[in-house]
Amino acid sequence: MSIEPASRVTRVQPPATLAAGEKARQQARLGKDIIDLSQSSPHHITPDHIIRAGVSALESGLTNISSSSGIPEFKQALAAKLNAYNNLDIDADAEVIVTPGSKMGLYESINAFVGQGDDVLIIEPTWVSFRQQVELSEGNAITVALSEEEEYMITYDQLKSSVTDQSKMIVINNPNNPTGRVYTRQELEDVARVCQEHNLLALCDETYEYFIYDSNAHITLASLPGMWNRTLTSYTFTKAYAMAGWRLGCIVGPSELINPLLSMHEHTASFVSPFIQIAGAQALQGPQDHIPIWRDECDMLRLEVARMLNSVSGVTCPLPQGATFMFPRYDSPISSAALSELFVEEEGVVVTPGVGFGLSGENHFRIALMRSPADRVLEGAQRIVRVLEGL
Ligand SMILES: Cc1ncc(COP(=O)(O)O)c(C=O)c1O
Repeated sequence: MSIEPASRVTRVQPPATLAAGEKARQQARLGKDIIDLSQSSPHHITPDHIIRAGVSALESGLTNISSSSGIPEFKQALAAKLNAYNNLDIDADAEVIVTPGSKMGLYESINAFVGQGDDVLIIEPTWVSFRQQVELSEGNAITVALSEEEEYMITYDQLKSSVTDQSKMIVINNPNNPTGRVYTRQELEDVARVCQEHNLLALCDETYEYFIYDSNAHITLASLPGMWNRTLTSYTFTKAYAMAGWRLGCIVGPSELINPLLSMHEHTASFVSPFIQIAGAQALQGPQDHIPIWRDECDMLRLEVARMLNSVSGVTCPLPQGATFMFPRYDSPISSAALSELFVEEEGVVVTPGVGFGLSGENHFRIALMRSPADRVLEGAQRIVRVLEGL
């Protein structure tokens, strides 16, 4: 007799990025010369002052249980950063929950508010886990597929026409992974208007807030008039502080929206290790000079990789406004999954197939600019060009 998992679990697909990353590691273990351009976590090691803060917190005995919502040192440092950078003035005690990675916080946000029969608007192309997190919560993911020709612009009309009587939440990722779109004030006001007209909760993922190029500006949705009370905002330490392995993120919002997450958290994750939060507080309060250096490197890479890919006939590689990816389109009948396989087989380069970001991502692939050192990213782009030229 076999024991079946719950159907909500059997429906779940693995994230395309994890599968691609695993492939890169497997091939490298076999001794192949692999260039990993798959996952988004930077290749950098966590800056030294952050590591030292974590180690010294461990050595001083911070090894025991901790408060579920987070320790005061971390929450106060976060409140100061939100005030300085995101135009948010939060109550550090009541309006934040610290989570083991932002992925867990995003899942808690969806699971606490979405249940059977609830519709969730997902703006596509979308990060690999939102749809699955909605499905794990037994909600319905409603795709709002943005048009590439219109540079993935969000419009009031398109959002409005996707709203149903069952709509509960809208998920937005700004800057967007994988397209790199940084939403303008007008677009965010359109999101706000739809949320207010239909009493929707907004879940806004600001993972790539520090990676913004040219004259684009990052605006925090929750800071718009009338939005604080209906928005949960997600932040992570994985990208700007290269803390992927520490698992540190947080969700910020009014206490009425945070408390349901806390109820789940107390019975599941419990808390984030206090020594990790001390390292996170140091990340927020210590030197920030590595961030513009990493961002400028991505800026250089995005210009260079776009130039290389746009030289191939049938390939269009727009310049991302933010985040740390390229999302080129190619004109060929080959599927994005098969093309990604070809990149590995012929040239040892691992990317993420576009279909992993939703059906509208087909005929695209995603190149992560921070997963490998800059010279390897450029070499990877050259190898990709060789494959594309042979299609
Ligand atoms: C848009 C987005 N949100 C959330 C995450 C999850 O980050 P973490 O769980 O490491 O904080 C990622 C990581 O790839 C991401 O790209």
